[in-house]
Amino acid sequence: MLLYERVATALRTQIAHGTLRAGERLPSIRHLAQGHGVGVATAVQAYLQLEREGLVVARPRSGYFVRASTTLPPAPRPARNRAPGEIKNPALLDATEAGAHGALLPLHSATPAFDLLPQAALKASVSRCLRRAPAAVFDYAPAQGHLALRRLIAQRYAQVGAPVSPEEIVITAGAMEAINLALRVTTSPGDVVLVETPTYHGILQTVAALHLKVLEIPNLPGRGIDVARLDHLLQQNAVRAAVLVPNFNNPLGSLTSDADKQALVSRCARHGVIIIEDDIYGELAWSGQRPSPLRRWDTHGIVISCGSFSKMLAPGLRLGWLAGNPWTDALVRAKFFSTMGGTSLTQLAMSDYLQRHDLERHLRRLRRTLADNGQRLLEAIARFWPADTRVCEPQGGMSLWVQLPERSDSRALFEAALSKGIRISPGVLFSSRGDYVDYVRLSCGLVWDQRLDRAMKELGMLVARLGGSKVKAP
Ligand SMILES: Cc1ncc(COP(=O)(O)O)c(C=O)c1O
Repeated sequence: MLLYERVATALRTQIAHGTLRAGERLPSIRHLAQGHGVGVATAVQAYLQLEREGLVVARPRSGYFVRASTTLPPAPRPARNRAPGEIKNPALLDATEAGAHGALLPLHSATPAFDLLPQAALKASVSRCLRRAPAAVFDYAPAQGHLALRRLIAQRYAQVGAPVSPEEIVITAGAMEAINLALRVTTSPGDVVLVETPTYHGILQTVAALHLKVLEIPNLPGRGIDVARLDHLLQQNAVRAAVLVPNFNNPLGSLTSDADKQALVSRCARHGVIIIEDDIYGELAWSGQRPSPLRRWDTHGIVISCGSFSKMLAPGLRLGWLAGNPWTDALVRAKFFSTMGGTSLTQLAMSDYLQRHDLERHLRRLRRTLADNGQRLLEAIARFWPADTRVCEPQGGMSLWVQLPERSDSRALFEAALSKGIRISPGVLFSSRGDYVDYVRLSCGLVWDQRLDRAMKELGMLVARLGGSKVKAP
């Protein structure tokens, strides 16, 4: 046996026997080398081997940790054959807030924490615009949005093999307004819209506000949109549009494969379904590899691609966009009739930021932090939550979707957590009819600290108490 294999086997055995537990820090490379009487290079090789096997994870500047491989994936659910219907979910229809809330720990919020934003660079861009172009800053923006920003967004599409013209881009107040405008232009009240289940509550709220009906297609852990069911659904129902999140959907963080994306576009084209693609998490692949938007395979002109700077830069700037060529004139008109246009200051400042600062560098750091937080949450769940808690391992984005032990009610957990100063998102928010009562969504976008660590322990005890399970030994 090679030397590094011998070291790796020793660690593997300790992990298998529970001597080393999920989330625990492993010896430093120097200590490992000394302990086994081998060189540093051999110790590094042993860790790399265990990392390839998925048993350990490296955390920048912290060392190696045992991976939380003991968490189970969510139990498969039989797909329901529900007819299209109106959204009837009071939890969803009554909700009116987003973002952090005072002293509460915002474990519910799918946004990057303030300390993860490139604050200095963004402030510098805002100041520069106020200094250099006050007349433009204080004037109305064109309804379609400032051309400089549209050009920069078009350049990013070109980099991922999905060419989009600046002439077809419309700047919006976040992805939410983009989806709203796209639905208003392409549908009429009473039309049926296909959405994933579970999916982001904002999409369902917009669909409800426009008096549309929903038809749900399963969103599968690790696989994304259940494209195999698409033909059946589209044959049985007259669907006008689909609002889909193929890249790291919220709440699962699942990625739909390129092959499935291609099949999705061609089947929707065959059935005359317009796709409104919400690619808000496309830049947040934890592997660092940006997946393509659906737009890349749109040879029929049926995809309206929506995006946003909310998750990669700052949600409060309210800057998003859409690109949907055949509908550009109608979309610009809808934007004009609704708000006349967006905000000049944020559009000009964002153009400045994209030209002068290094978005790629910021994104690399953000992706690493999100992946790291995701891993830490998994580890905390494996250590502190009841053993029958199940977790969907995300491939990107900002969320962790957790299935509580059987018969648990996440609304009770939500209330109990609030009383401890912790805010979580109960699963009922993520479907049209209040399904997923036994799920919660947690945020990967916070800065990891002792408070968060304690909160995960606290939540584990609450889950155990509410569900009648035993708490794990700390
Ligand atoms: C899938 C998805 N789409 C849209 C939004 C809202 O985006 P924006 O802030 O750009 O309006 C969110 C926010 O959580 C989201 O998760």
